[in-house]
Amino acid sequence: MTQPLDSQLSFTLNGESVSVKDVSPAMTLLEYLRLSGRSATKEGCGDGDCGACTVALIGAGAGGQPHYQAVNSCLIPLGAVAGRQVLTADGITQCHIPKDAFVKEPVTADQLHPVQAAMVETGGSQCGYCTPGFIMSLFAAYYDGTPDDLSVEGNLCRCTGYIPIRRAAQMVAEATVQDQFSERLLSASTQLSPLAYTTQNNGQSEQFHRPTQLSEVLDLLQQHPDATLVAGATDLGLEMSWHRQRYPMLISLEAVGELRQIHQTDELVEIGAAVPLSHIETTLHGLFPSLDEMIHWFAARQVRNRATLGGNIGTASPIGDLPPVLLSLDAVLKLAGPGGDRMLPLANFFTGYRQTELQPGEVIVSVQIPKTPAPGTARRLSQAYKIGKRGTDDISIVAAAFVVDVDGSNQILHARLGYGGVAATPARAIAVEEFLVGKPWTMETIQAVKPILQEAFTPLTDLRGSAEYRKRLVVNLFEKFFVEFP
Ligand SMILES: Cc1cc2nc3c(=O)[nH]c(=O)nc-3n(C[C@H](O)[C@H](O)[C@H](O)COP(=O)(O)OP(=O)(O)OC[C@H]3O[C@@H](n4cnc5c(N)ncnc54)[C@H](O)[C@@H]3O)c2cc1C
Ligand code: FES
Ligand code: FES
Repeated sequence: MTQPLDSQLSFTLNGESVSVKDVSPAMTLLEYLRLSGRSATKEGCGDGDCGACTVALIGAGAGGQPHYQAVNSCLIPLGAVAGRQVLTADGITQCHIPKDAFVKEPVTADQLHPVQAAMVETGGSQCGYCTPGFIMSLFAAYYDGTPDDLSVEGNLCRCTGYIPIRRAAQMVAEATVQDQFSERLLSASTQLSPLAYTTQNNGQSEQFHRPTQLSEVLDLLQQHPDATLVAGATDLGLEMSWHRQRYPMLISLEAVGELRQIHQTDELVEIGAAVPLSHIETTLHGLFPSLDEMIHWFAARQVRNRATLGGNIGTASPIGDLPPVLLSLDAVLKLAGPGGDRMLPLANFFTGYRQTELQPGEVIVSVQIPKTPAPGTARRLSQAYKIGKRGTDDISIVAAAFVVDVDGSNQILHARLGYGGVAATPARAIAVEEFLVGKPWTMETIQAVKPILQEAFTPLTDLRGSAEYRKRLVVNLFEKFFVEFP
């Protein structure tokens, strides 16, 4: 049954209830904060790259327990914030700061949050523009006991330099946390309530629905064929932030239980399409080395806290990083639609540039990854590689993921080579896979396969890299794989 429409959207901001009306549900949280005078949260890039806008949300950790999550407020639509608790850098001092624009009374040192005090102590701030973002990333990590370099990998500073900021993280890493913010977690609910919000914007109706069951998602898609699905909004959020894109109907998948679970059997792992990558990172760590590796290099903490597998596949980008890994692992998609469920190998899902087999009214429910190697396998070799212009928080020039199963006499039983950034879709080098089966896993075989691999794809030249460079990477990454896993 669909929810009655509500014209009000409510959430908790720094402990105070906030209700908004007549606001687009696709307005970003950052825009809302700044328009309402809460200017502590800064805008740098507006597209998830700099971390200046970082805030903390209370959400479910990988084990379901409430925890603070650092997220980019420039990418999160207000609709997705409904019913949640949000904290910003001006809301974590130990005193009450009036919500209207300026703090009249300066905050004293003993009122600072320990993370703020550590940044003062180490001189972690100069111009201060990036500081509220660093503070909120460290704040979230502080309560998980993990303030370290990785917790601030999504925050850029252009003037202080990172050493004092890293010292601040080290200073608070050992602290035993028992304060009002840890107590707030104890009483917090992570259950997202259903939502059906409507508003008029320049005479156009805008709706934001957050159903809790898959059947409701499918019903809504039947009733509103023009609806847009949204999961973590780390892709769609760019449209909302940069282009002020508005949607007649957004259907959030975040509260749909069937899409938020990870199941394991002896044979396979099934990952719900709306499970955030940071949960996959924690829950499945060690199971698929190539998935671990690629998630490690995927964006940064704030994005991984929101981004999902369904979104990475649904966006059908030729440079999405996870499809090459999933192709190499023979992943199969579970799709649900008006005609029921169907299973589709990921290898058959992408049909052209940003085009897929997903039919109107269908949703990606989950991704199944087989765990068992080919019969007779003595060793499974598997790894992923991402080449970008910088190590972390960058888009791939080429991404590759490989699986090779060899028997006891080093003969190749099964080979999968998945690539991104080399064709209109993520793709497998099928001719090479076929060539490899039955050959020995030796440098001679690698040398023999290089000319075939060299011609496997016809990549484009663009700002990130030339076609020639990409072709070389296709070959060199596979050779590197052999050198690392002889
Ligand atoms: C700063 C930054 C860094 C990034 N770095 C990387 C990176 O390193 N590697 C990379 O691959 N990507 C990267 N991205 C892109 C993005 O984070 C990923 O594509 C992410 O996986 C999208 O997931 P999402 O849940 O946020 O998708 P959303 O933005 O919510 O949705 C994306 C698309 O998928 C559709 N969709 C979502 N879920 C489903 C579903 N279950 N069924 C059908 N359709 C669905 C939506 O309708 C939409 O068209 C980055 C983005 C940003 C902003
Ligand atoms: S403003 Fe740069 S990440 Fe949001
Ligand atoms: S203190 Fe100026 S950008 Fe970091």
